Amino acid sequence: MRSLLRALLVASIAVLILGVLLLGAGCTPKEEPTSTPITTPPATESTQTESAEPSTPPEVVLEGACTQCHSTTQIFLQPTYTDWKSVILRMEQAHGAKLTDAQKTAVAQFLSTRQRPLGEQVIAGKCTACHTLSRIYAKPSGTDWKPIIKRMKEAHGLALTPQEEAAVLDYLVW
Ligand code: HEC
Ligand code: HEC
Repeated sequence: MRSLLRALLVASIAVLILGVLLLGAGCTPKEEPTSTPITTPPATESTQTESAEPSTPPEVVLEGACTQCHSTTQIFLQPTYTDWKSVILRMEQAHGAKLTDAQKTAVAQFLSTRQRPLGEQVIAGKCTACHTLSRIYAKPSGTDWKPIIKRMKEAHGLALTPQEEAAVLDYLVW
């Protein structure tokens, strides 16, 4: 997610620099007034600014519209049957999340089609045998999950392969 943001930032800086260079070229008196590079840059620049919002990747939309109150991990950690449209509606109506219609469609689409990593699949599949996921995502950020997982295994009989346990511990960070 960070690298995407960084890529976007780099891309917009590049567009800005290009724009400034081309505009600068347009201001030098010796340029021929009718040459194409002088007339095209402002048009290119404004088209890109206008199209930037609808084409923003959903991960970036999530960062802007959904992560002020909780982490993306807490959002992702849902049963597979989650009705994302109604979750988004509740975030708006009950908690004041602000999204455009285009963002809502993009976020719902992204959340219902993304690939789930192993840790997330194990949690959604195995950790829900005895209690709901709300027990898990209610834990505050910085929680030490090792003793909790150990207790789930030793006191309650949760069965995890070492690979699954490593994936779960790796996943539960917020
Ligand atoms: C203004 C704060 C705020 C914003 C912004 C926000 N949420 Fe929430 N979210 C909450 C609160 C508070 C809870 C816990 C209470 C609840 O479940 O309604 C929560 C809980 C959740 C849950 C877990 C509960 C469940 O029903 O599964 C999910 C998933 C979720 N939010 C997704 C999102 C998504 C997706 C967005 C962006 C569209 C978003 N949130 C934006 C405040 C917010
Ligand atoms: C076999 C049943 C069972 C399974 C499977 C299970 N749990 Fe639990 N879990 C419990 C019981 C019972 C409690 C309440 C008693 C306790 O806290 O030990 C609990 C409580 C919790 C709590 C709240 C306790 C606290 O310390 O705040 C968390 C968090 C939790 N489980 C996480 C998990 C995770 C993560 C998994 C999957 C890796 C998991 N559980 C799988 C039975 C289970």
